[in-house]
Amino acid sequence: VTDELTLRRPDDLHLHLRDGDLLRAVVRHSSGPFARGLVMPNTVPPVLTATDAEAYRKEIRDAVPAGHRFEPLMTIKVVPSTTAETVRQARAAGVVAAKLYPEGVTTNSADGVRDVMALALAFAAMAEVGMVLCVHGESPEAFCLDREARFVDHTLPRLVDEVPDLRIVLEHVSSATAVDWVRSAPTGLDGRHRVAATVTVHHLLLTLDDVVGGMLAPHHFCKPLAKRPEDRDAVLAAALSGDPRFFLGTDSAPHRRRDKESAEGCAGVFTAPVALPVLAEVFEDHGALPRLDAFTGSHGAAFYGLAPNEGTVRLVKEPWVVPADHGGVVPFRAGTTLRWQFVDGGDQGPTG
Ligand code: NCD
Ligand code: ZN
Repeated sequence: VTDELTLRRPDDLHLHLRDGDLLRAVVRHSSGPFARGLVMPNTVPPVLTATDAEAYRKEIRDAVPAGHRFEPLMTIKVVPSTTAETVRQARAAGVVAAKLYPEGVTTNSADGVRDVMALALAFAAMAEVGMVLCVHGESPEAFCLDREARFVDHTLPRLVDEVPDLRIVLEHVSSATAVDWVRSAPTGLDGRHRVAATVTVHHLLLTLDDVVGGMLAPHHFCKPLAKRPEDRDAVLAAALSGDPRFFLGTDSAPHRRRDKESAEGCAGVFTAPVALPVLAEVFEDHGALPRLDAFTGSHGAAFYGLAPNEGTVRLVKEPWVVPADHGGVVPFRAGTTLRWQFVDGGDQGPTG
C-alpha cells in the first residue's frame, strides 16, 4: 500500500484570496501547499487594471507567511469598460489572465458583462498579447441548473469562432455538456489546445442533493451549482482521464461563517485547506492516483505557458480531522476525517 505521496509542487489555477483581514486569515492555506495560484479579481473594489493588479499582488505577497514561497498569478476583471489598452497595460504588468463574469451571475459580479461580444476588441488584444480569457460560463437568464449549458451552447462558440487565437479556460466545469464541449473545442492554428477547463475539488464530489437534498447545506452552496449525478460523474471522469485540457482550479472561495449561514447566503466553498488530501482520496478511490500529479502540477502550467514548478510536496496516509473553522471560515469537509494529510517538509525547490 502507498502510504506516502510525493507531488510536484502544485498550481491552483483558480482561487479567491479576498483582501484585508480575510486575505490574512486564509492565504496560508494556499501558500503552504501550492506554489502558484491564479487569483481571481472579484474583490471589492475589483481588480480592473494593471495598477490594481500590482497593488493587489503586493498585498498578497505581504500577507504570505514567512517561510512559504508562493507566487500569485494575477488577473483583471473584464467589465464593459475594459479596452484593448487596458489589456496591453495589464499584460505589461505581468497579468496572465482576464476573468469574464456575466452580469450578476455570482459573488461580486454586478459589474459583469451583459453583451459579451461587445468586448471583441479587448478579447482580440488578449489573443495578441498572449493573455488567457478565464470564463465564468453561466448565462444568468437561464434556469439555475441550465445556466452553464446555455452559456456553452450560445456564447462560447461565438467567442471561439469570432476571436481567432483567443485562449479560453472554462472555469469550474460542472456539467456533462460543458465537459463535452471542452473535449470537442477546436485547436489553434499552431495545433495547441485553445480551450481548457478548470475542475474544482467540490465538483468532483457534490451533487445538488448534497446542497438541498436533505438539510440545507450552505457550505456546499456555490456557483456554478453542483448538479445531477451524471454531471458530477462527467466532471470526475474528465479529471481522472489524464486529458491535459482539464486541470485543478479549486475555486476556493472563503466567506465568513455568518455570510454563509444566512438568509442571503453567499456562494462559494472554502476548499484550500483540504484540496490536496481530498484529491488524493478521490484519485485513489478511482485507481487514478498516478494521474494526480499531472492534474495538479503540469496540465495547467502547460496551458498557461508556464514552466512547471520545481520541488515537491508530500502527503502521508494518516487520518486527520478537518478543523471546524479557520479564522471564522468553515472549510469543505469540516469536522470529517480524511485519509491523507498534507505535511510540510517537501522540497520547495531552489529559492529565487
Ligand atoms: C465565488 C466567490 O465567492 O467569489 N463563488 C463561487 O460560488 N464560486 C465566485 C465564483 O467563482 O463564482
Ligand atoms: Zn471562482
